[in-house]
Amino acid sequence: MNKTPNPLKVTEVVLRDAHQSLLATRMKTEDMLPIAEKLDAVGYFSLEAWGGATFDTCIRFLNEDPWERARQLKKKIPNTPLQMLLRGQNCVGYRHYADDIVERFVKQSYEVGIEIFRIFDALNDLRNIEVAVKAAKKCGGTVEGCISYTVSPLHNIELYLKMARDLVDMGSDIICIKDMAGLLTPQMTTPLVRELKKTIKIPIHLHSHSTTGLAGMNIQCAIDEGLDMVDTAISTLSMGTSHYATECVVAALQGTPRDTGLDLEALEEIADYFKEVRKHYAQFESNFVGVDINILKSQIPGGMISNMENQLRDQNALDKLDEVLEEVPRVRKDLGYPPLVTPSSQIVGSQATLNVLTGERYKIITKETRECVLGKYGKLPGEIDPDLLEKVAKDQKVIDCRPADLLVPEWDSIVEEAGNDAKTDEDRLTYAMFPKVALSFFQTRGKPLPEAAPPAPAPASESAPAAAPKAAPAPAAAASGSAVYTVTVNGKSYSVQIGTGAGTPAPAPAAAPTPQPAAAPAPAAAPSSNGSNKAVTSPLPGSVFAVKCKVGDQVNEGDTVMILESMKMETEVHTPHSGTVNSILVQEGANVQTGDELIHIS
Ligand code: CO
Repeated sequence: MNKTPNPLKVTEVVLRDAHQSLLATRMKTEDMLPIAEKLDAVGYFSLEAWGGATFDTCIRFLNEDPWERARQLKKKIPNTPLQMLLRGQNCVGYRHYADDIVERFVKQSYEVGIEIFRIFDALNDLRNIEVAVKAAKKCGGTVEGCISYTVSPLHNIELYLKMARDLVDMGSDIICIKDMAGLLTPQMTTPLVRELKKTIKIPIHLHSHSTTGLAGMNIQCAIDEGLDMVDTAISTLSMGTSHYATECVVAALQGTPRDTGLDLEALEEIADYFKEVRKHYAQFESNFVGVDINILKSQIPGGMISNMENQLRDQNALDKLDEVLEEVPRVRKDLGYPPLVTPSSQIVGSQATLNVLTGERYKIITKETRECVLGKYGKLPGEIDPDLLEKVAKDQKVIDCRPADLLVPEWDSIVEEAGNDAKTDEDRLTYAMFPKVALSFFQTRGKPLPEAAPPAPAPASESAPAAAPKAAPAPAAAASGSAVYTVTVNGKSYSVQIGTGAGTPAPAPAAAPTPQPAAAPAPAAAPSSNGSNKAVTSPLPGSVFAVKCKVGDQVNEGDTVMILESMKMETEVHTPHSGTVNSILVQEGANVQTGDELIHIS
C-alpha cells in the first residue's frame, strides 16, 4: 500500500465548549482535575479548556478563580497545549476593551498556561482581532484566526476566502472555520474546505456543533478535502448542541492514512469518567439533546439555546422558548445579519427575548443592541433596519472606525477602580472584564458556597451581588440560616428564599424572585406611601445594575432613572412620569420582576 500517513489532529473540547453547550458552562475545576493526567496522555493536538463563557461562569456562579483553573490544569497537563477561545477586542467579556487591556489579558493568559489562542470577532470585522493576534504572537502563542461561519444572503465562499487571506496576512498560524451554530452542511463544507486549501498554505481547523445532526458528515467531507484538525467532544458529553464524538472520528479513521493514532481504550476511560461527572449538572441539561434541523433556520448556537433556556426558566417563562426562537432571525435581519456568536448571540438573543416578553418589538432596546446599531461592536455585514436605526440613532452618530480606536487606555483607571479588593493583576483583569461580578467574587472567594444551592450567591455577603446568579431552579434545601418557600401567584410558582440566620437581617436575598406585589401582599415589596405617588415599575425581570437618580431629584418623562441588568445585558428604565423622586424602593443588586415598583414620583 502506498499511502502516506497524514494523521488528522484532534482537539478535545470537553473542558470548554462541550459543557458550555450542554451544561450551561457549569463544570467545576474539581471535576476536571481528576481526569487531567489521562487527558494529557491521549495525544490530542490540543485541549480546549478556557475562554468562552468559562471565565464569566467561574466568577458569577462557581466562586472559582478562572486564572487559577488554567494554572491548575496546566500543572496536570504539561504535554498537551491548552487552547482558549478569545473574542478579539472583547477578550472574554461583552464589550470592547482598550488595547492595553487586550494586550495584558492575552499576555496573562499565556502566563497561566494557554498556548493556542483561537481568536474571532462576532461580526467577522477583522479590525477587532488585530491587537489580540499581535499580542498572542508577541508572547509566543499559536494563533488560530477564525472565520465565524454563518448563513445569510450576504455570506458566501468568496467572502470567507478573502477573510482567510486576510487572517494569513495578519499572522495566523492556523485558520479555524468556526461553525458555532452547527450550520454547515456537506454541500457547503466540501467547496469551502477545498477552496480554502487551494487558497492558503496554513493548516485548517474545523469547529462545528452537532445540533443539526450533520456534523459527522461534514467532518468526513472536510477530511476528504484535506482538513488538518478537528474539534470533538468525548462521547459522554458529545452530540446534541455539543460536538461530534471524539471516539467516532477516531474509530472511523482507524487504519486509513488519516488515522488519528488516538487510543480508543484510553478514550473509553475518559468517557466513563465524564458520564459520572455529567450527573452532577443534571439541572443545567439542555432540552435539546437529539437532532434539530430547525436550527438551520433559526441559526442559534448550541450554547446560546442552553443559556436562553436557563434565562427563561429563571423567569418562569420557559413556555415562551419557541416564540423567542422565532423572533431571533427577525432581530438578526434587523441588525444586518451578524453571525450569532458571543457577544452578538447574546445581544440578538436578549433583544428577541425582550421583544417577546414585553409583547412589543423594540419596546425596550438594550444598551448593547443600541451600541451594535451605532457601530460600536464593529462593522455589521449588512444594512440596519431603517426603523430600528431611526429609533436608536435619533441623536447619536453611527461610527465607522475600529471601535477600540475611540477608547483611551484603561489600565490605570481599572487599577484605581478595582482598589484593594483586587490583589493581583489577574484580579484587575477579572475586574476589567466583569466589574460588579468581580467585586462580589473577591468577597466570596475562598469561602465555601452553600452546598445545596450551588448557583446561589452567599446570602450573608455584604457586597451587593449586582449581577447575582439567578435563583437556583427550586433548590431542595436552603443554605443554612434560610428557608425556601414555593409561592404561587396567578398560577405561577416562584421559589422564594427567606433568610432567618443571625447574619442576614433583611429578608428576600438577592437571588430570590419576588412575587408580583400587585397580586400578593409580599411584605418586602409593599410601598409605605401612596396618594399622589406615581410608580416607575420594572419593565422586565432582572437585577438593579445602577440607580440613576436620588430622592429629591426632578425628573422629566423619558429620563433614565435606573439601569437594570437582565440576561447579562443592560437596559435603561425610563420614567413615564415627570415630577420629584419621592422614594427609591430598590437598591443596586436587588432582583426585580416585571411590574415591581422601583421608584415613586410625586
Ligand atoms: Co462552539
